[in-house]
Amino acid sequence: MSDSIKIILDGKTCECPIITGVEGYKAVDISKLLAATSHITFDNGFANTGACVSKITFVDGGNGILRYRGYPIQELAQHVTFTETAYLLLEGELPTARQLQTFDRSVTKHLALPGGVLKSLESYPKQGHPMGALAAMICSLAGHYPESLNPDPSADEIREIIFQMLAKTNTLAACSYRHFSGKEFISPRKDLDYESNFLHMMFSTAKKDYHPDETVVSAIRTLLVLHADHEQNCSTSTVRLAGSSKANLFASISAGVCALWGPLHGGANQEVMEMLEVIHADGGDVQKFVNRAKGKGSSDKVRLMGFGHRVYKNYDPRAKIIKRRCMDILKKLGVHDPLLEVALKLEDAALKDPYFIERKLYPNVDFYSGLIYKAIGLPTVMFPVMFALGRMPGWLAHWKEMKLDPSTRIGRPRQVYAGSAERRFVPMNQR
Ligand code: SDX
Repeated sequence: MSDSIKIILDGKTCECPIITGVEGYKAVDISKLLAATSHITFDNGFANTGACVSKITFVDGGNGILRYRGYPIQELAQHVTFTETAYLLLEGELPTARQLQTFDRSVTKHLALPGGVLKSLESYPKQGHPMGALAAMICSLAGHYPESLNPDPSADEIREIIFQMLAKTNTLAACSYRHFSGKEFISPRKDLDYESNFLHMMFSTAKKDYHPDETVVSAIRTLLVLHADHEQNCSTSTVRLAGSSKANLFASISAGVCALWGPLHGGANQEVMEMLEVIHADGGDVQKFVNRAKGKGSSDKVRLMGFGHRVYKNYDPRAKIIKRRCMDILKKLGVHDPLLEVALKLEDAALKDPYFIERKLYPNVDFYSGLIYKAIGLPTVMFPVMFALGRMPGWLAHWKEMKLDPSTRIGRPRQVYAGSAERRFVPMNQR
């Protein structure tokens, strides 16, 4: 296999190197195409376009493989905690016990939120969505930590601000739930691990600490680990793109939260729950819903939320784990949720349907996760916030990789212009 290709257009030639990634996946480097041939490429939704070289996460969509820094997600979901996962994504190696202890301490010391942020959160409209509050509060942190505005931070300054963000996301996620449910804020504790602190800040009261069942802590841990990174998805690409302009970390992450909010991305876990409720209310007729999801062009065509993926053309490995854990956790908690039955029947009907088979549409990470969040006591609007909490280490690892990469340039895609050709200005009285 040659290590380059020639693109010849209108008699002009561009020699394009072939880049070979680990696992043998290849890319054509077209960085010189425009200068050499006056042509750009066009790739709707960037489905065929690599935006960067990254060492963090490997996804093989055809074979349903997901690895963080080379470790299979199945191993990590079973054996590591969320901060161990964060360390792995950020530092590239699994930590020793001492390294993890130091890391955890560095996160815990930053859990408390500045008073001004809590005041801003208290004024956020209650009819709003927690993701809007999360994005706004994260961006406001730049006002409290002006050192974050340094466009060229050192590696140490990057490490410190990452600890800040990782820690404060935990407290902000819990506080946003408390705000929208009209409850007073609960302060973090120094003696709890990351997942237990989140549950404490969510469900304790001023009078009584919440002592989570180990099943609940383990469920949150698994879900956060499974959501921690997923290479160049929409929100991670947003974080990298915003960061490429040297926008500060808080602004870049806030942009990522906004991208994740969309129903086609991290907002899908909320949409799945609402979809299951509609089907259940309609007598649980899953075939009727599957038929609507296939209804090409018909006015009431719907998307089967939690199904399909840009990269996975096989069962999302995370969905397999979440489905198994979902049934296990609901059983352990003694929760009999009829929506689980609806979800299982809906999956079964879709996976047998030629429309879904031909398009290689399988359950993705969002299909079963909401049933676990609901069983733990989280309201549906908090589900995308849980996705953001889980994805935070991935966003931070990619932002750090982008910042420390000397080849990073500001991201600035081109376009195919399809508007008006040049025309003369017409004064208002002649229009
Ligand atoms: C996440 O990228 C990531 O890694 C994301 C993520 C991560 O960890 O960061 O994995 C998290 O965002 C998971 C996806 C959550 N979103 C949903 O569950 C929403 C429902 N899914 C779809 O909207 C869709 O599958 C996407 C958005 C996930 C992927 O969209 P694509 O790749 O642009 O696919 P497409 O819209 O071009 O669909 C291709 C065909 C179309 O049919 P035809 O026009 O060829 O006839 O498949 C159909 C679509 O209509 N299709 C669906 C469908 N998904 C695709 N039809 C019904 N129900 C669906 N869910």
